[in-house]
Amino acid sequence: MSRKGALIVIEGIDGAGKSTQAKSLLRKLRAKGFRAVYFREPSRGKWGRELKRMARRAGSLTPEQELELFLKDRRENVEKNVRPALAAGKIIVLDRYYFSTIAYQGAKGLDGDRIRRLNERFAPKPDLVFILDIKAGEGLARISGRKTKDVLFERESYLAKVRRIFLSFRGARFVHIDACRDKRDIARQIYNKAMLILAKKPSYS
Ligand code: TYD
Repeated sequence: MSRKGALIVIEGIDGAGKSTQAKSLLRKLRAKGFRAVYFREPSRGKWGRELKRMARRAGSLTPEQELELFLKDRRENVEKNVRPALAAGKIIVLDRYYFSTIAYQGAKGLDGDRIRRLNERFAPKPDLVFILDIKAGEGLARISGRKTKDVLFERESYLAKVRRIFLSFRGARFVHIDACRDKRDIARQIYNKAMLILAKKPSYS
């Protein structure tokens, strides 16, 4: 394999605390002297910005059109950010990746296996995927602000489906974490597991 770096992904439903944990991991890795970078999806590129715009107009895209846009955004993120950082031997902390597409677009009725196949054609497989787990209602309560009850109810039942798909991911690369625990405990657990995996990679051991 030509890749020298490592790809660590943080996933979870809205309100699970992904960004906080991703940034905390990044800080800890850098403090240890690792060259670590942070990226997120949707990205800050043109497709990511388009997705953010569309998200404000709920229901304006079909699930298939959404999938297409997330794939375009991911292709751009992989080519511009992920592959160059891996080739340079950096550790990438990635806030959402194609597991979000399997879960969120899968929860809208698209076939999860097909979504996975479409992604794995071009997207490098991560070394580690942390899934921060929280009940849909609790995640929403953390972030909901002033949204109306109707909007929240619809969102909650959707996120409950998304959560079930996230919970179904199994395998050596996946680590499920209870996102309701103390933030610092979660950060320690993530960092310790990341160090274990890095120690097994020839470029870091
Ligand atoms: P994100 O920027 O993580 O949300 P936030 O506004 O909480 O910072 O992601 C925006 C939304 O996009 C989020 O609800 C999850 C959704 N999403 C998908 O539906 N599919 C995907 O493939 C990705 C990456 C995100």
